Amino acid sequence: MDYSIETAPLEKLQYDCIIVGVYQDKQLSPSASALNNSVSGLIEKVVNRGDISGKNGETVLINVIPGSDIERILLVGLGENVPLSGKNYRKALSAAINNLKKPQIKSIVCTLAECAVETYDRQWKTRQIAEVFGDAVYQFTACKSDKEIESKIQKIGITAPENELAAAEAGLIQGKAIAEGVDLTKYLGDLPGNICTPTFLAEQAVELGKKYDKLAVKILEESDMEALGMGSFLSVSRGSRQPAKLITLNYQGGEKNSKPIVLIGKGLTFDAGGISLKPAAGMGDMKYDMGGSASVIGVIKALALRNAKVNVVGIVGLVENMPGGNAQRPGDVVRTMSGQTVEVLNTDAEGRLVLCDCVTYLQQNFKPACIVDIATLTGAISISLGNTYAGCYANDDELAHKLIAASLKTNEKLWRMPLHPDYNDMLKSTVADIANIGSEKGLAGSSTAAHFIGRFINTGVKWAHLDIAGVAYDKKGTNPICPKGAVGFGVRLLNQFVKDNY
Ligand code: BES
Ligand code: ZN
Ligand code: ZN
Repeated sequence: MDYSIETAPLEKLQYDCIIVGVYQDKQLSPSASALNNSVSGLIEKVVNRGDISGKNGETVLINVIPGSDIERILLVGLGENVPLSGKNYRKALSAAINNLKKPQIKSIVCTLAECAVETYDRQWKTRQIAEVFGDAVYQFTACKSDKEIESKIQKIGITAPENELAAAEAGLIQGKAIAEGVDLTKYLGDLPGNICTPTFLAEQAVELGKKYDKLAVKILEESDMEALGMGSFLSVSRGSRQPAKLITLNYQGGEKNSKPIVLIGKGLTFDAGGISLKPAAGMGDMKYDMGGSASVIGVIKALALRNAKVNVVGIVGLVENMPGGNAQRPGDVVRTMSGQTVEVLNTDAEGRLVLCDCVTYLQQNFKPACIVDIATLTGAISISLGNTYAGCYANDDELAHKLIAASLKTNEKLWRMPLHPDYNDMLKSTVADIANIGSEKGLAGSSTAAHFIGRFINTGVKWAHLDIAGVAYDKKGTNPICPKGAVGFGVRLLNQFVKDNY
């Protein structure tokens, strides 16, 4: 996607559609009013005869403009003629973009950053246009033939007056960074498991590393993991023909000696459950089981794009969980890199087996300011929180509060969930140091999973765990901004968390 700031008068711009606003009292936005003069009062006519009432989110597309070089004008209702709430501003933007998803429209220019929005400035308003439009025009087309492609928008312009150019450009850098990070996360999530293998994801990470000077990417192969003693991680991979990979994305935008924030992603490129095979219904969704990894990769891309002045390390454990003659058996005991032994009572509780070795690896190689892991870890989290909130576990209140503050700003919702010694007790094993599932089926499944990871966090290290199994992908398609499929959860949230605190 090509994004640009436009300062020239509207009638001089070459776009397939110009987006302008109308209020409920029939007042035209400044751009609508200017444009109205260059199209002989056409906009006023459409408004006065009641084709659009100006209610927030209502739209009318004027698609033929006689005697003008302007191709199309989209009128968007803004609501009452007062400063809009941030929410209504985003609602108007999403209504606009959703009306322009037609293959003949390839470029659009939006003037709505001129509207007054409560407490927000030009920078924020510009950033929202890039974010909302980027989210809405995303389509997973990699596996479709050309004729089925709905939107072909490739160019998005955002207008700004000369005297606010700097603010608009700053907003665009932020918005574009997030839009591109989210786009990558969604694309990787939507790709099917036969294409998006650990090797494929590793290649994507290497490509990112080549693009950005401050980003160093390192790949551990199975033989390296073997040498490091990652018996738990590797046990998950045994049933698969695909070799597992552990990738470190080291983004050094900050001072050399400042401690990095470490983000760890669960990267099951497909989770069949292993010998504890999942039921057939819905198993296809398990291509999304690398959603946490995709979010880590996407947020690192966003940080690099906006040239963030921080050190952030991303660690993603990439592996496929399959049944097979060589797969691990329920009841097997594996040795983790930390030395603790694990009794694998259910091979479908594999994410934690991967994450625990990632956690040990990172603590041996970095001195983290904090660790945040993000994982489609348990079905149980959606029993608690549905598709609305991701679960947030943390061993440090301040860290939890910072994450929740970022969550409120970005509308990627987090709900704090409890850690408690009782849950730890439920992980007792009769033959090993710890079992990989709780002793009581159906009880506190997300909390016991969180505690399992917690058992590998060194004393004094601040750690949070985000269980995104209920929010990483959308099956219903009810979100007006984002089409169904992978939603890129975590990119905005973690970007905001990094931006506000480090
Ligand atoms: N990948 C799944 C969790 C999941 C479920 C993600 C639904 C997205 C949607 C995870 O590996 C898993 O299978 N967890 C088991 C754990 C159980 C065996 C203790 C679960 O949630 O059923
Ligand atoms: Zn599983
Ligand atoms: Zn899984």
